[in-house]
Amino acid sequence: MNLIVAVDRSWAIGRDGDQLCYISADLKRFQALTTGHTVILGRKTLATFPGGRPLKNRRNLILSRTPGFAPEGAQVFSGLEELLAEAEEDSFVIGGASVYRALLPRCDTAYVTKIDAAFPGADAFFPDLDADPHWAAAEEGEPLEQEGLAFRYVTYRRVK
Ligand SMILES: NC(=O)c1ccc[n+]([C@@H]2O[C@H](COP(=O)([O-])OP(=O)(O)OC[C@H]3O[C@@H](n4cnc5c(N)ncnc54)[C@H](OP(=O)(O)O)[C@@H]3O)[C@@H](O)[C@H]2O)c1
Repeated sequence: MNLIVAVDRSWAIGRDGDQLCYISADLKRFQALTTGHTVILGRKTLATFPGGRPLKNRRNLILSRTPGFAPEGAQVFSGLEELLAEAEEDSFVIGGASVYRALLPRCDTAYVTKIDAAFPGADAFFPDLDADPHWAAAEEGEPLEQEGLAFRYVTYRRVK
C-alpha cells in the first residue's frame, strides 16, 4: 500500500484541523498520483475537503466510529481490519495523523512532500521517516518553490 503526505521540517502535517498550507503544484501531484485509485482517510480529514465531500474519481474508504456517519460517495468503516479487507494493494493512505500512524506498518511506499518551513502551532504530526530504520529515501526530487515556499518531493520505500 502507498501513502502520500506533506510535512514541514518537523514532520508536522496540520494545525487546528486543517492543512499547514496549500501548494497548488503539490495538489496537482496529489490528484495525478491518486486519481483512479482507492484513497483511505479518517473522518476529520474528510471534513477538510471542500463541502466535506469525498474525492471524485477515486474510491473513498473512510474510518469513523461516529454512529450514522454515512457521506454520499464513500464507504465508512468502524475498524481497520474491516477496511483493509476492502482495500486494494495500490490504495493510497491520505491521512490524517491517526490514520497514517495506524497504517504506516502496512505501507511500503511513502510519497512525501517535504516543505522547507517550520509552521508554529502545528498540532498534527507524521512519524519521522528519516529516523526510522525501516524506511529509506529512494528518490529525491530537485528543490522547488511556489507561493514563497520551498519544497521537494521525496519517495521513501520500506527497507526489505
Ligand atoms: N499534510 C498532509 O498531507 C495531511 C493529510 C491529511 C490530513 N492532514 C491533517 O491531519 C489532521 C487530522 O488528523 P487527525 O489524526 O486529527 O484526524 P484523522 O486521522 O483525519 O481522523 C480521525 C478520525 O478518524 C476515525 N478513525 C481513526 N482511526 C480509526 C480506527 N482505527 N477505527 C475507526 N475510526 C477511526 C475517527 O473518527 P470518529 O471520531 O468519527 O470515530 C477519528 O476521530 C488535520 O490537521 C489535517 O489537515 C494533513
